[in-house]
Amino acid sequence: MKKVTINTLRKMKQAGERITMLTAYDASFARLLDRAGTDVLLVGDSVGMVVQGHDTTLPVTMDQMVYHCAAVKRGVLRAHLVGDMPFGSYQGSADEAVKNAVRLAAEGGAEAVKLEGGAEYAGVVERIVRAGVPVMGHIGLTPQSVHKLGGYVVQGRTEEKAQRLLEDAKALEAAGCYSLILEMMPGELSAEISRTLSIPVIGIGAGAGCDGQVLVIYDLLGMNPEFSPKFVKRYLDLGVLIRDAVTRYNDDVKHGAFPGPEHSFSAEKTPVLQLYSSVK
Ligand code: KIV
Repeated sequence: MKKVTINTLRKMKQAGERITMLTAYDASFARLLDRAGTDVLLVGDSVGMVVQGHDTTLPVTMDQMVYHCAAVKRGVLRAHLVGDMPFGSYQGSADEAVKNAVRLAAEGGAEAVKLEGGAEYAGVVERIVRAGVPVMGHIGLTPQSVHKLGGYVVQGRTEEKAQRLLEDAKALEAAGCYSLILEMMPGELSAEISRTLSIPVIGIGAGAGCDGQVLVIYDLLGMNPEFSPKFVKRYLDLGVLIRDAVTRYNDDVKHGAFPGPEHSFSAEKTPVLQLYSSVK
């Protein structure tokens, strides 16, 4: 098993091999996604929505991101690990951005950081890369700017806006980004950006022309039966399965069917048990 690094990802693009990327927020999920062969795990600030229950990613803090990165790190053997820079952690100044990126790498174990924004963040990207931390860019629908964008809407639909996104992508590559996320934009545009850049381009809601794809793991697994945007393919209805399992558990406890003798200890034999499964 060979660790995936930024060099591996570059070679994958050159060889035309598609890159798979998923979000993870804890060690248990990280272990499963890593062992399933996912190339990149992103500790996304989407944690604010799918785990914490907020309407946006805006309330997520640096301390929370460091905590979740460190947890995910403990489950990973092979995948490349990226930590998201949360809202407010890099917008203020390049000095603050470097300090926070270094925290994600040093305390959270992230092998790279991701930040949202176009050419206006080229200087910040340069400073973080110079400090030794690889940066993944993120343009198109940038959820931290949801209020500025007027909602979670497809970006780059006019010629002028598409051109601006292409220029942003080039500026981020020139500033030193080793890869780029494109979120919610027409497939023709994301394919053009992917062809134009030499760094790997990973799409979400950006069509099939990118070098790789990323999804929020809770969406892929169908954890929220009420959330099914067009760009998500649901591979499982885990939300429904969990609700059914827990309903059966509740019934069993109420009716005395659990625990049975096979789940109970007697005074005579006390085997040494591994009570909790460890992550690795
Ligand atoms: O926070 C996140 O999960 C993301 C991905 C959707 C790209 O930014």
